[in-house]
Amino acid sequence: MIKVIFVCLGNICRSPMAEAVFLRLAEERGIKNSFCVTSRATSDCEEGNPVYPPARKVLQSYGYNFSHVARQITLSEIKNADYVLIMDGINLRDITRFTGGRYAQKIYLLGHFSENKIDIDDPWYTGDFERTYDEIYRSCEKFLDFLQQTRGGAISKD
Ligand code: 4NP
Repeated sequence: MIKVIFVCLGNICRSPMAEAVFLRLAEERGIKNSFCVTSRATSDCEEGNPVYPPARKVLQSYGYNFSHVARQITLSEIKNADYVLIMDGINLRDITRFTGGRYAQKIYLLGHFSENKIDIDDPWYTGDFERTYDEIYRSCEKFLDFLQQTRGGAISKD
């Protein structure tokens, strides 16, 4: 099992969207069972909360049926993960402080897998949840391509 954790500030918008999108893409490619996927927050500001309603609305509009409770990431979760996918430079600063710089080799900016090498900006501030979904979708496709190219031996058909 390849262990993947998507991480954002609150774990109510971007990282749960990424978790849902990644799982759907993996399912469509017939390789979902090769992954253990979750999402977490760098902060405890939304601990215990569900997906933020505008993000849920976008997911629902694309047919996702997703239940989720926001949780802050722990050091042992980072230690046990194979890939930690963060969204922006603020996440990078926060997680680097939290880990004291350890585990840097498994921490990736999700948007840097996309063609445009973007940060996935916080829709909490931009208000554009459709754009966030689109950026996450395109980045997850490329991230999954990357895993299939580099970790093929650890991925098998469901
Ligand atoms: P997320 O969005 O990091 O994509 O889940 C946010 C959610 C909550 C807050 C900030 C960003 N907040 O400040 O409470």
